[in-house]
Amino acid sequence: MARLTQENVERAREIISRYPASRSALLPLLYLAQEQDGWIDDSAMEHIGDLLDLTPAQVLGTCSFYTMFKRQPVGRHLVSVCTNIACLLNGGYELLEHAEARLGVVVDETTPDGEFTLEEVECLADCDRAPCLQVNYRFFGNVTHDDFDRLVDDLRAGRLAETVPAHGVLNREQPPPVSVRRADAPHGAGD
Ligand code: FES
Repeated sequence: MARLTQENVERAREIISRYPASRSALLPLLYLAQEQDGWIDDSAMEHIGDLLDLTPAQVLGTCSFYTMFKRQPVGRHLVSVCTNIACLLNGGYELLEHAEARLGVVVDETTPDGEFTLEEVECLADCDRAPCLQVNYRFFGNVTHDDFDRLVDDLRAGRLAETVPAHGVLNREQPPPVSVRRADAPHGAGD
């Protein structure tokens, strides 16, 4: 199921063509797979390996190194709470515990409705606004427990949809690959 769609295979081929060595396209193709499904499963890694002439182990070696690549399904909102030193000193762990209680999950779990995945992360480089967190990599600083509760309510109700797109949908907001646009275009257009 998670092999790349035909449209994304075309995107992948276009990305690969930008590099003198095809294996250099590994990171962008992993992002492409994650944007398609929200996470990267074994069959997606195999497919990427086929496209780049890499073994599944080589693809997995890179995919498992970077924490932004997810190898398990992720909820619509990925909540990343920082507990590194500045945040720790400003209540980061308490915020994380509050998040666990509020969402009813522990770190690395997803709520049963698929809305939220909670993770604990290292420094987000937003230390002057500690404690801070990200939702789908959008920053929220100086987060109190009340702020967190409001944030969860707003996200669940879709009130922040403009500023916090759902996890894994970036690809669906991109224009289709050039060849698809041509196929869809009215006869003679874009030639
Ligand atoms: S320690 Fe939390 S953002 Fe730097």
